[in-house]
Amino acid sequence: MSDVKKNLAVIGAQWGDEGKGKIVDLLCEDFDVVARYQGGHNAGHTVKFGDKHYTLKLIPSGIFHRDKLCILGNGMVIDPQALLEEIATLQSVGVVIEENLKISDSAHVILPYHKALDLAREEAAGEGKIGTTGRGIGPAYETKVSRYGIRVADLLDRDVLREKIEFACAEKNPVLAGVYHKETFDPAKLYEAYLGYAEQLAPRITSGTVLINEQIRAGKAIMFEGAQATMLDIDHGTYPFVTSSNCTVGGICTGLGVAPKHIHRVYGVAKAYTTRVGGGAFPTELIDAHGEHLRKRGNEFGTVTGRSRRTGWLDLPVLRTAAMLNGLDAIALTKLDVLDEFDEIQVCTGYNVRGERWKTFPAFAVAHHDYKPEYRTFKGWQTSIVGITEFDALPQNAKDYIRFVEDETGCPASIISTGPRREETIVR
Ligand code: GDP
Ligand code: IMO
Ligand code: MG
Repeated sequence: MSDVKKNLAVIGAQWGDEGKGKIVDLLCEDFDVVARYQGGHNAGHTVKFGDKHYTLKLIPSGIFHRDKLCILGNGMVIDPQALLEEIATLQSVGVVIEENLKISDSAHVILPYHKALDLAREEAAGEGKIGTTGRGIGPAYETKVSRYGIRVADLLDRDVLREKIEFACAEKNPVLAGVYHKETFDPAKLYEAYLGYAEQLAPRITSGTVLINEQIRAGKAIMFEGAQATMLDIDHGTYPFVTSSNCTVGGICTGLGVAPKHIHRVYGVAKAYTTRVGGGAFPTELIDAHGEHLRKRGNEFGTVTGRSRRTGWLDLPVLRTAAMLNGLDAIALTKLDVLDEFDEIQVCTGYNVRGERWKTFPAFAVAHHDYKPEYRTFKGWQTSIVGITEFDALPQNAKDYIRFVEDETGCPASIISTGPRREETIVR
């Protein structure tokens, strides 16, 4: 970092689980504030250092650094019960969560009927299901956009809260019972439970927008922590197999109330291969022994749901799309060590769509199964690079692989991750 304070966004460049938690934790030493701007507890961000291992869902990955202010932005959807459980779990292992965690009063609240609707719809969709995390994320964003959502500030106003819960139950219960044949919710019980959560969360609730802009004005350095990823973005991802928020860089402006001029640099986090959890297109997917090797060696099982992740080769059109949409300044290339044992590694360099070569992800053609990925084969390095911290110490074949990714995406790989722990990283 230069001595000029610069704000940095860290955004998933693929379909999630790229290692954003590790990268945010690693870099946040140089920052004063770490803020989430979208998503909810569908995220699962892993942070490991020494013999410590944590999973974060709602709380920013800066929480392990005592002097960082962590903010949950207005663009998030927050399940208060999940948040309180996460706070309690972290506190029980000694993590300090006091004045350093604040919640925007304009974030939206997830209620149990959101979760019930999410699960009921997925069940009803059968084979066509999205494969959501089942946390109520989509239905909560729907209620937000419908303008009948309950915001965090509403938790602090008893009359408004009661009225809104009663109104929501009157609308959602008939859908749950009549359309999906599921249990309904008693508004009085929900009201009691949410009053309890409100009481516990009240000291953390504030105008997130004013808070973050005060920090910016005071010259503090801000890190924006993305959840989910570019290809899961509601507008730019592989719709409808996406999440319900804007994970890409624009989400920061709306999801925190921060003007674009305050986002100075954007890093994309990308695995050295590709994974995806849930349904939807995955052109470079490997349904063979190579895919199984990536899953085992990369421990590709969901942080939130435990589901096994789908695995495949690196897709450069996906990374070029992420670079374009987010204006990436650099890539943090993670899990390079997972490729250690391959004798050959393939990389998708482009797509052939009816004779035309596409260098970015041809979303429409992929949705209509009308494309052919083109690959280039690299020689593997077949030696362990786990824990290497110097670029020069990497085997030549690994360097060639990294340089190809840099050349093809136009982004320097400023960070290369060679293991899950904070220490196992090359910073260039
Ligand atoms: P996030 O959602 O983007 O924060 O990523 P997750 O934490 O869900 O998934 C990334 C997984 O890969 C976690 O289990 C990390 O501990 C692990 N991980 C991160 N970087 C590396 C790496 O360079 N090598 C290996 N082997 N594992 C890594
Ligand atoms: P992090 O932040 C990977 C996927 C789900 C599903 C789709 C919609 O850890 O990278 P949702 O519950 O959001 O409505 O599910 O999005 N998904 C993720 N996949 N990593 C995540 O978060 C994800 N959050 C949601 O699997 O396909
Ligand atoms: Mg994750």
